[in-house]
Amino acid sequence: MTETLRAATFLDKGGTGKTTTVAHLGVALDRLGRDVLLIDLAGKQADLAKNFGVWDEYRERIEEEDDWPNISTVFREQWGRIAGKLGDEAVENMIFETGEGPDLIPAHPGLDGLDTELNEIEETERRYSRLDEFVDEYIEPLDYDFVFFDLPGSTNNVSYNGLWAARNVVVPVEAGPFEARQAGRLRDDVRRISDTFEVDLSLAMLILNKTDSRTRLSEEFTEEYEDEYPNVVAPAQVPRSQAVRNAANDGETLFASNAATGTAERAREAFMENAEELLERL
Ligand SMILES: Nc1ncnc2c1ncn2[C@@H]1O[C@H](COP(=O)(O)OP(=O)(O)O)[C@@H](O)[C@H]1O
Ligand SMILES: [Mg+2]
Repeated sequence: MTETLRAATFLDKGGTGKTTTVAHLGVALDRLGRDVLLIDLAGKQADLAKNFGVWDEYRERIEEEDDWPNISTVFREQWGRIAGKLGDEAVENMIFETGEGPDLIPAHPGLDGLDTELNEIEETERRYSRLDEFVDEYIEPLDYDFVFFDLPGSTNNVSYNGLWAARNVVVPVEAGPFEARQAGRLRDDVRRISDTFEVDLSLAMLILNKTDSRTRLSEEFTEEYEDEYPNVVAPAQVPRSQAVRNAANDGETLFASNAATGTAERAREAFMENAEELLERL
């Protein structure tokens, strides 16, 4: 039996491509023959479900209130009892098929109040380790090869739980001075959490996303990032491509879309190459 690999996309900023990266690397890993589970912790917009076109189906379930247990309940004190009662179904009912290979546990509106609730747990270690315990106990036995988390674009108790459970952080950044500073802060955070709690968090991959071949900005920042983060920058940059946006709006990834533009092709290749490299690194 091999261990399930884990990673999470994170950066304390919205719109850099975290959700897009989880969706596309998830499908790329599936194409590389891995069994993949995606877990969306990024909040009530349930972006991953939308990105895979399963949002309507999921929303119906939420509206019928037949959405329990869900990803937010696994953080609660009562989870052990709930799971004990429901048995295997407790987790099975949370898992959706994306239609593109990976399975998905979508985000849930219940995640919204979770940060505040978790704050009430005094001992920080217990505040941050809930998700990890859930994954160890309930996800590991399902024998996925790879579990990929999408985290909120802000530093809070939920994202800390995600980092703690995933151990490996994948960071999509756009090329710019502001983003470079954020990536620096993230690196400090990762070090601090590792030192304080003796968990082995690592910055596994920094991906330059939405690069534009018509300007030299990306090139300059790639060099800067490579100096700052030796061995962390991903082998392939992901170009800015309208096809990425269109595919997301159509509820699919680029791998399922038939967009044949140059940037779409290059983006697909970049996701494949980065997925292969990620497997090497973990
Ligand atoms: N390489 C890319 N080219 C073009 N648009 C992109 C690319 N990556 C992401 N996007 C778009 O940028 C927006 C934000 O991406 P998203 O993955 O949702 O970011 P985050 O999860 O970090 O908030 C989305 O509309 C997405 O389709
Ligand atoms: Mg997102």
